[in-house]
Amino acid sequence: MNSKKKFAALLLQWNEEENRREMPWKGEKNPYYIWLSEIILQQTRVEQGLPYFLRFKEKYPSVKHLALAKEDEVMRLWQGLGYYSRARNLHETAKNIQQNYKGIFPNTFDGLKKLRGVGDYTAAAIASFAFSEKKAVVDGNVIRVLSRVFGVETAFDITEGKKEFAQLAQEVLDEKNPAIYNQAIMDFGGTVCVPPNPKCEVCPLNKICVAKKEGTIDVLPYREKKTKIRNRYFNYLVIKNEKEIFIQKRTDSDIWKSLYELPLIETEKPLTKNLKNTLLKFLKTEDFKIESSSKEIIQLLSHQKIHFRFIHLVVKDIRALQIEKARLVKIKALAQLALPKTIHLFLFEKSLL
Ligand code: ADE
Ligand code: SF4
Repeated sequence: MNSKKKFAALLLQWNEEENRREMPWKGEKNPYYIWLSEIILQQTRVEQGLPYFLRFKEKYPSVKHLALAKEDEVMRLWQGLGYYSRARNLHETAKNIQQNYKGIFPNTFDGLKKLRGVGDYTAAAIASFAFSEKKAVVDGNVIRVLSRVFGVETAFDITEGKKEFAQLAQEVLDEKNPAIYNQAIMDFGGTVCVPPNPKCEVCPLNKICVAKKEGTIDVLPYREKKTKIRNRYFNYLVIKNEKEIFIQKRTDSDIWKSLYELPLIETEKPLTKNLKNTLLKFLKTEDFKIESSSKEIIQLLSHQKIHFRFIHLVVKDIRALQIEKARLVKIKALAQLALPKTIHLFLFEKSLL
């Protein structure tokens, strides 16, 4: 048996014997549920994604339910997963399927790929799990496993590497069991061949693994491009009375589009000495006092480092205040709105409300 055939055989054997992790999407044949779980799992680890999947499934048991949902409600349910364009695409695609496909998912890889937010990975997952199409999934887990076992040193984030990994993944796919095989390789990457400290001692592939033999586990998979991190300073204004607080909806498509946030002054550098003047310009009034200013809170996104600061202001006449884009909403209604994670934590856990 060549090493590629052996790879698939060992993996399936591991899956039979060792992999007893039951998850509600395993063995699922309904393309809607598979699609839901895969979009959620692209966002987060299995343990964290699970409760989100269950909540979505309960709230929207069919694509029709999701299609008819209000956008704010979908965003609220997604809150905490990040990367909110995925939630918007999810909603858009549900509406599209309901309106243009009579509520029925396409049943081929090529058909699925026409849907918004469904790329090669998701289309392969749905096509193989639901329709047993012979399409290999290629995600971060799969790339890591393949690069290590077969010692592939081509970078996975350049055109050449993408092609090479896609080809290799397709070659090693067990065509008799595409659904079970695809699920097995993802589970294996998520539990045994994990990024740092893979469990090589108990790994069923440790006899054929090139990276293990050559000591290259720590450098594989190889990435070529360095991610540039952009620093952004988000100075949020907490302006409220007992019942109401100023809130605005983000419309910029950079991050958190359609989520709610506090009135924001974004700057390129930390706002320190200039705070008072900046506030005067922003609020166009002298009726405010700076009550307190939080420590800097940092949230790392994939390409951005957001430096949060919450500035609590006291104003005498809150109703006279005009803030472009923002409006006063009832504090009670805030729990129904989707807020970026850091704002949510700050407002609710600090019991500022
Ligand atoms: N990550 C993304 N999809 C997954 C799946 N179906 N099983 C395990 N991990 C995953
Ligand atoms: Fe991954 Fe180690 Fe197994 Fe190789 S031997 S596949 S590096 S867990």
